[in-house]
Amino acid sequence: MSRLIVISNRVSAPTADKPGAQGGLAVALSAALREADGVWFGWSGETGETGEPNFQTFDGVTSATIDLPEQDVEEYYDGYANRTLWPLFHYRLGLTEFEREFQGGSERVNRLFGDVIAPHIQSDDLIWVHDYHLIPLGWMLRQQGLTNRLGFFLHIPWPPTRLLTALPEHRRLVDALFAYDVVGFQTREWLETFHDYVVREMGGSIGEDDLVTVGGRTIRVIACPIGIDADEFIANATSEQAQAAYTRMVESSIGRSLIIGVDRLDYSKGLEERFNGYQRYLETRPDAHANVYLLQIAPPSRATVESYQIIRAQLDSLSGRINGAFADVDWVPLRYVNQSYPRAALAGIYRAARIGLVTPLRDGMNLVAKEFVAAQDPEDPGVLILSRFAGAAEQLDSALLINPYSPDDIADAIDKALAMSREERVARWRPMFENVRDESVIWWRRCFTDSLMRV
Ligand code: F6P
Repeated sequence: MSRLIVISNRVSAPTADKPGAQGGLAVALSAALREADGVWFGWSGETGETGEPNFQTFDGVTSATIDLPEQDVEEYYDGYANRTLWPLFHYRLGLTEFEREFQGGSERVNRLFGDVIAPHIQSDDLIWVHDYHLIPLGWMLRQQGLTNRLGFFLHIPWPPTRLLTALPEHRRLVDALFAYDVVGFQTREWLETFHDYVVREMGGSIGEDDLVTVGGRTIRVIACPIGIDADEFIANATSEQAQAAYTRMVESSIGRSLIIGVDRLDYSKGLEERFNGYQRYLETRPDAHANVYLLQIAPPSRATVESYQIIRAQLDSLSGRINGAFADVDWVPLRYVNQSYPRAALAGIYRAARIGLVTPLRDGMNLVAKEFVAAQDPEDPGVLILSRFAGAAEQLDSALLINPYSPDDIADAIDKALAMSREERVARWRPMFENVRDESVIWWRRCFTDSLMRV
């Protein structure tokens, strides 16, 4: 059987010294790899001279990491990935920085990844590259002479053609995708915007069976939404740690309804707009005060990038203003927490919540929405309020779908969710739960690798 080689910017597979909390994507990739024999290559997250990969096997997953020199981290990761592609692909042209050395750094690091990884590849390995940092890697691996089946999956949105063409080297970036055999997107929407670029900008054509042709090169391009390790998360929700977190929340809520938000601290997550929506709810429903509170968990990320420092400072002051304006001696309307929690504890917190508030301005998928659904008590589930601009909205369409830019939309949805009958909550939750269970991370891994195997 072929090995599965996963390559992503950062490897956050659990290791013996760091077995703890991980983000949604890391958990998903660990689960996919545990099921298939394979190796996960990527950056260790540390700065230093790049040497041979450091191989470690823990909990059924082998990881192989390299360090990157400081200049590479600044230009490739902080620069091109987080100051150019991330804002552009999340429709934030105003935050996008166009610096030639960022692009140079990105190409240099992609080439370095290719040079370091290629000697460890066997001829029948399936290679699966992940995310916007590594778009050019397929091309670099082909230059090393690799003829393996090569796939790429984009975890974030694909931007509309007119936005993408703001990037001076847009054509070079998209050309690089044609070094892969299969390219995957999270949703039909991103797939269609990619088709649009291919037709308009490249003069390409869209054929049967997911095939896309430009010049003499045909690749398969699919929509294949990532899921969560549903069985693990459902088990998590009733674990001892989850029970303890559940009890802690119920006791500290003293009969008030908990609204929960859990997000990496990122401007794409719509946290400022969410706080404004909650503030609108408090302003317009004075009778509801003291019956409800919002717990927002937001661990900081990418703290060296200025736009992240700005959003953090804005949220600090907005949360202070909301509490200053509405709190009472025995009630704090907003608990804003900047630390991360183990997944089992989160499962318990989700289960204790009456509402899951997931309102990104733009999101490739959003696995928090799926985890919230998986953690609910089937007899008495909470309500998911979900941004219509999250990839997850294509699958979780019986959530209360809202426009995250509209404070009134958010406030009305909170009102509706708090008043919703148990019958309606169950009726909305059940199809979402079935989707989360059936289209799990294992389903996603198969959906993509089966497509790659057909090449
Ligand atoms: O989902 C997009 C993504 O960039 C993932 O690739 C990554 O695991 C996650 O967000 C967190 O980003 P970072 O590694 O920059 O903290």
